[in-house]
Amino acid sequence: MFKIVVLLSGKGSNLQAIIDQIDTGKLNAEISAVISNRADAYGLKRAENTGIDNIVLDHSHFLDRESFDQSLAQIINSYSPDLVVLAGFMRILSDSFVESFEGKLINIHPSLLPKYKGLNTHKRALENGDKEHGASVHFVIPELDSGAVIVQGIVSVKDDDTEATLANRVHQIEHLIYPKAINYLAEKNLEYKKGQVFLNNELLKEPIRKYL
Ligand code: GRF
Repeated sequence: MFKIVVLLSGKGSNLQAIIDQIDTGKLNAEISAVISNRADAYGLKRAENTGIDNIVLDHSHFLDRESFDQSLAQIINSYSPDLVVLAGFMRILSDSFVESFEGKLINIHPSLLPKYKGLNTHKRALENGDKEHGASVHFVIPELDSGAVIVQGIVSVKDDDTEATLANRVHQIEHLIYPKAINYLAEKNLEYKKGQVFLNNELLKEPIRKYL
């Protein structure tokens, strides 16, 4: 079975979408554990409700980023996962952590990368008058929000959109594309080699695109 560990810090709606796809048999994988750096993350509750190991590793109990990341890596490795999924994990991970999981670590970012790396993506898309916005599932490399993109989910921006309405639509497409990206990996249709993504053994020159 393809084993996943999920890292999160907040409400965990993406975790829920992944759980739902596993429950309905559309994603052939199992979540071995959910780890949060915040004890109050609702995502932990979702894991508990589903009988998934849920672990708090509070970053404020550590002297520095490296020691936190070392403990985090130890817990993750104790599950021997095939894939580590960042689902709203609000901590920068050290280069050595990221390098040790390269090719097995993916993230979802709320923009059509390479546009709007970092924070406030919906606000920036609105301010620039973008007609399309969305989310990207990508492999994680040390440079922030910069690894090879697997799937992008695209939504249209409406004239009367606010940050909240746009964020809501982007969340909807996130819930479709994150399980889908994981499924490509679980089914071994997708491979990561030296920074590049191969779909059915062919170099993926552009991300797979899904529209809401
Ligand atoms: C999502 O918007 C995702 O793009 C970002 O963090 C948020 C997580 O949301 N990386 P949730 O906790 O899964 O609801």
